[in-house]
Amino acid sequence: MNWSEEWNSSIKESSYLRILNEKGISNNDFWKNLDYYDELMKYSGYPGKVLDRISTFIFSDDVLLDVGSGTGALALPLSKKANKLIALDPSSYQLNILKSKAEADKCDNIVYIEKEWKKVSEDEIGHVDYSLAAYSFFEDDICPFLEKLIHVAKKGVFLVFRAGRGDLLREYAYNKKNSVDYLHLYNILSEMGYMFNVEIFNFDYKLPLPFVYRLYPYSIKTEDEIFNYLDENNRLVKKQNSYEVLCQRKDALLYLIK
Ligand SMILES: C[S@@+](CC[C@H](N)C(=O)[O-])C[C@H]1O[C@@H](n2cnc3c(N)ncnc32)[C@H](O)[C@@H]1O
Repeated sequence: MNWSEEWNSSIKESSYLRILNEKGISNNDFWKNLDYYDELMKYSGYPGKVLDRISTFIFSDDVLLDVGSGTGALALPLSKKANKLIALDPSSYQLNILKSKAEADKCDNIVYIEKEWKKVSEDEIGHVDYSLAAYSFFEDDICPFLEKLIHVAKKGVFLVFRAGRGDLLREYAYNKKNSVDYLHLYNILSEMGYMFNVEIFNFDYKLPLPFVYRLYPYSIKTEDEIFNYLDENNRLVKKQNSYEVLCQRKDALLYLIK
């Protein structure tokens, strides 16, 4: 199996890049339409134990780089442990949310870079002790993406991605199978000559049904179809006048300490 080729084509086919391509919308507009991302992360307990585990490696004089920091689920709490955190993301919308959360939390050690990872030079980034990428592996070619993350960091690298296929409701909603998970990353890295450690974190949670209806705005499935799918899969729990949906997340943390 050619792990990196399969990864590259799967990311193009089944991640949100396919939606950007088919609908002709920009990365920034996509994230603007997903303005409930932080709320979803709170319900789903992310980053929870993944964050706790990464935190055990960080000392107060460390410089961290978060590639694809988004709204700062990891970047914001990690900035409080470190000397400096560089938050890199091509979406101004995502970075602005992070900026206002950082301001409210009085975190003034975050440096923002509004760029794609492949478009930034290592000189521009400067000294980095630990690099991190969590659910942000959205470039055409995974190998240079990972190689640069490893090369830029003096002490270590953290990668976070799903273990397993993720919520099967997403596959149903978009009619696309998620065929890659952290094992692909692990095998690509080992073919590149890097042996990463792996830890898996599970979390069970519930989402209000009206919230679930908003999760897949580009799906062609109706609310009734989604309801029936959830019902058939025994994922609905009646709560007063509405329902809650049973969900589970499985995050894999891959890390390399140099
Ligand atoms: C699913 S969010 C993850 C955010 C955050 N890392 C987390 O774990 O919550 C993916 C983020 O990756 C960013 N992204 C997309 N393409 C990227 C690229 N080429 N380089 C860096 N970040 C990218 C998106 O703008 C988005 O904010």
